[in-house]
Amino acid sequence: MAALGIDIGGSGIKGAPVDVATGAFLRDRIRIPTPVPGSPEQVIEVISHIVEEFNWQGKIGVGFPGVVRRGVVVTAANVSPEWTGTDMAELIQAQTGCPAVILNDADAAGLAEMRFGGGKRFEDSYVIFLTIGTGIGSAFFLKKELWPNIELGHMEIRGKEAEHRAGDGVRKEKELSWKQWAKRLNEVLQTYDFLFSPDAIILGGGVSKQFDRFSKYLKGIRAEVLPAELQNQAGIIGAAMAAEESLVID
Ligand code: BGC
Repeated sequence: MAALGIDIGGSGIKGAPVDVATGAFLRDRIRIPTPVPGSPEQVIEVISHIVEEFNWQGKIGVGFPGVVRRGVVVTAANVSPEWTGTDMAELIQAQTGCPAVILNDADAAGLAEMRFGGGKRFEDSYVIFLTIGTGIGSAFFLKKELWPNIELGHMEIRGKEAEHRAGDGVRKEKELSWKQWAKRLNEVLQTYDFLFSPDAIILGGGVSKQFDRFSKYLKGIRAEVLPAELQNQAGIIGAAMAAEESLVID
C-alpha cells in the first residue's frame, strides 16, 4: 500500500514514497526548488527527476496549488498561468509511465490531516481545513468526506481576498507582529465561521508550528480552532493517499 506523493509549492517541489496505511515516509523526502516561472514543462521535468531518484514504478499522487478536475488544472493563482487547461495527469503518465492522480494541494493536506493528524477525532463532524502559506488553501470535510476544490482563500472580505489579507506571505512582507497578523486572520476565520458554521477549523501550513504565538488573539469564533499536527508532510502524504485510492475528482 505505497504510493509516491508529490507536493508542488511556490518555492519547492517535494516528494517521498509513502506507506499510505500508516502515513510514514518510506524514504527521506526530496525537495527541489520550484523552477521559475514554473511552466508545465519545467515542473514535469522536476517530477520525473524525483520519480527517477526514487526509481519509482507505481502510483503517483500530486498536490497542485490550484483547482484541479479530472487531472486537468483549472486555475493557477500562485504558479505560472500557463498551467490553466493542462492535463497534468496525462503529462505525468506520458513522461513517467506511472498512473497519476492530481488534486488541489489543500485537499491533499486535508485528507492526510483528517486520517492521521488533528482531524482524526472529528468522525461525525463538519471540518474546515486551511493551509496558510503564501496563499490560503481550503478543504471541507463532512463526516471525513472531502468536498474538493473549495477556494476560500479567494473569498473577498472587506474588498480584499482573504489570502491577501491574512496569508503568511502578507505577514512576512509587511513584517507584521503575530498580534497584528492574528487580527487579520481572526477576521477571516470569523467570516468563515459565520458563513459555514463548521464544528472545527484546522490550521495547517507553515504557521501551524507557531500556533501558540497567535492563538490567544483568536476570538469570537464558534468553531474549535486547532493547529494541524502533520505540518509540512501533510501535502505529500495526502497526495499519496489519493493516488493509492485512485481518487477521482470530478
Ligand atoms: C489557490 C488554492 C491553493 C492555495 C494554497 C490559492 O491561491 O487558489 O488552490 O490551495 O493557494 O496553495
